Amino acid sequence: MSLTTPVSTTLQAAAVPLVPAAAAPALDLSIEAVGKQYRRGAWALRDLSLRLGPGVLGLLGPNGAGKSTLMRILATITQPTTGKVTWNGADLARAPDAARRVLGYLPQDFGVYPNLNAVEFLEYLAAVKGLDGRAARRRIDDLLQLVNLAEASRRPLGGYSGGMKQRVGIAQALLNDPQLLIVDEPTVGLDPEERVRFRNLLSDLSGQRIVILSTHIVSDVEAAASDIAVINQGQLLAHGSPEALLQAAAGQVWEWVIPSAELPAARQRYLISSTVRTGDGVRLRAVAEAPPAPDAQPAAPALEDAYLRLLARHRNRGAA
Ligand SMILES: Nc1ncnc2c1ncn2[C@@H]1O[C@H](COP(=O)(O)OP(=O)(O)OP(=O)(O)O)[C@@H](O)[C@H]1O
Ligand SMILES: [Mg+2]
Repeated sequence: MSLTTPVSTTLQAAAVPLVPAAAAPALDLSIEAVGKQYRRGAWALRDLSLRLGPGVLGLLGPNGAGKSTLMRILATITQPTTGKVTWNGADLARAPDAARRVLGYLPQDFGVYPNLNAVEFLEYLAAVKGLDGRAARRRIDDLLQLVNLAEASRRPLGGYSGGMKQRVGIAQALLNDPQLLIVDEPTVGLDPEERVRFRNLLSDLSGQRIVILSTHIVSDVEAAASDIAVINQGQLLAHGSPEALLQAAAGQVWEWVIPSAELPAARQRYLISSTVRTGDGVRLRAVAEAPPAPDAQPAAPALEDAYLRLLARHRNRGAA
């Protein structure tokens, strides 16, 4: 297990690639027509293909979309029913140990031992992962600095806030300096300030690795992701840069003002992405292919609009 790559002790410095470009390892994660059926149940993933290189992928989808299922497959916790995943060409299901050596995973339901402090907890997990004790100890100190928990590192985890526990979660996922870092809904339950701090931490960590971050909150990926994949009902609806997703919604976002009393009916009728009360009623923002009202003005799409549009198109296609 390599623990030779030093962890930068400031978030600023961590943005610098940890490995010189010339020596950069191959990073190629290929998800090939993956399907997952839970025992006798419905398909949680269907024929999903995605190819990833270094950077932060935001995996965006509503509840039950299949995000955690996909992440558990990538983390070698479970295997696909159909299709396969390869890491630098090697089948994950056939050689899970090789993948686990380069993998860091923060599960959605990450729990801590409340009576241990951060150092004890990370030492325990380092031992479970088979890391050398001395090197692990140094790395734990660095990681606690990185996630801004050095001061609190001797306090029992039971007294930590949600955000602090999530940062311990990230630290444990980074123990082996992973080339593939998978974090499942890490911002759930965090207050706005913690959420921003966490997003910044994730984008600082990208460098020479693949980071996959799942969420159902668009603003989480807006800030941190270099690439976005939208999934719903186990299917991939779109994969591309934030700019490409925005471009696909160009000319389909509109704003206009209606009397407040008409809002409930408008909600039924239009695909509304936001509403703002104004002096003369409610300003609607909606996604539609043609102007939804005579006085509707075109607006520049935001990621939230693009996401809503993809989900609505998918729903409509299903209904058809
Ligand atoms: N262990 C399991 N056994 C049976 N069905 C499961 C299991 N885990 C997930 N599912 C089902 O698979 C589908 C996808 O679930 P998954 O947890 O992957 O979605 P998700 O996108 O992570 O949702 P959330 O945003 O709520 O975390 C859902 O219909 C879910 O009920
Ligand atoms: Mg989930």
